[in-house]
Amino acid sequence: MANTPGDHDHGQHGGQDHQQGHDSHNWASPEYVSKWAQGQDLKETHRQEAFKALADTIPYNKTLPIKILDLGAGYGGLTGFLFGHFPNATAICQDGSEEMARLGHERMKEFTGRFAYVITDFSRHGWSKLLPGPFEAVVSSIAIHNVNSPNIVRGIYEDAFTLVKPGGCFLNFDRPQPLWEDQMKWLRGAGFEDVKIFWQAETRAVFGGFRR
Ligand SMILES: C[S@@+](CC[C@H](N)C(=O)[O-])C[C@H]1O[C@@H](n2cnc3c(N)ncnc32)[C@H](O)[C@@H]1O
Repeated sequence: MANTPGDHDHGQHGGQDHQQGHDSHNWASPEYVSKWAQGQDLKETHRQEAFKALADTIPYNKTLPIKILDLGAGYGGLTGFLFGHFPNATAICQDGSEEMARLGHERMKEFTGRFAYVITDFSRHGWSKLLPGPFEAVVSSIAIHNVNSPNIVRGIYEDAFTLVKPGGCFLNFDRPQPLWEDQMKWLRGAGFEDVKIFWQAETRAVFGGFRR
């Protein structure tokens, strides 16, 4: 996965080298992940407003048994929130880090049976084919910017479109890396409609679109 030493792109999204992400994360390291998750706990309450805006934008009745795909799900901060909002939803948590998946199983114990992890790297060719779509909602939180390559981000959006059920949506809560305007242009190019920013703070926004 991105930011892991020895990682190489195999070309689907433009073949740029993306070994070094914008931040120096080491998501493969149990020590790093554990420390990051502890630090994140303090910030978790600040994310609720953005998560709520994202949940409210998913175009389905709360009681429906929708299928969610959380890209770069980590320990399931967003997935867990969405389970509260959509009590009959199930989710596939995609992540490149085995350690995050282990932590996710621990932290989302109360939701056992409603989620499964799929370990794949969304910056590598073929990642979307390993996921059991389509999904009513493909979502992501503070993960896609990690690839640090405009071409790869654009490719991820193209692949994400194929995973969204007609009538469904793709919603990303992330930083302006690349710029939100560019990312929204790529979302439109991928086929999403009504693409816009649904919630915004200084350095983070919830943006995305719908598959008609
Ligand atoms: C900042 S954490 C966010 C986790 C979670 N979405 C949240 O908001 O709490 C970034 C996550 O993206 C994952 N990630 C980074 N690059 C990835 C890649 N190329 N493929 C899959 N997952 C990746 C990391 O393993 C990590 O779990």
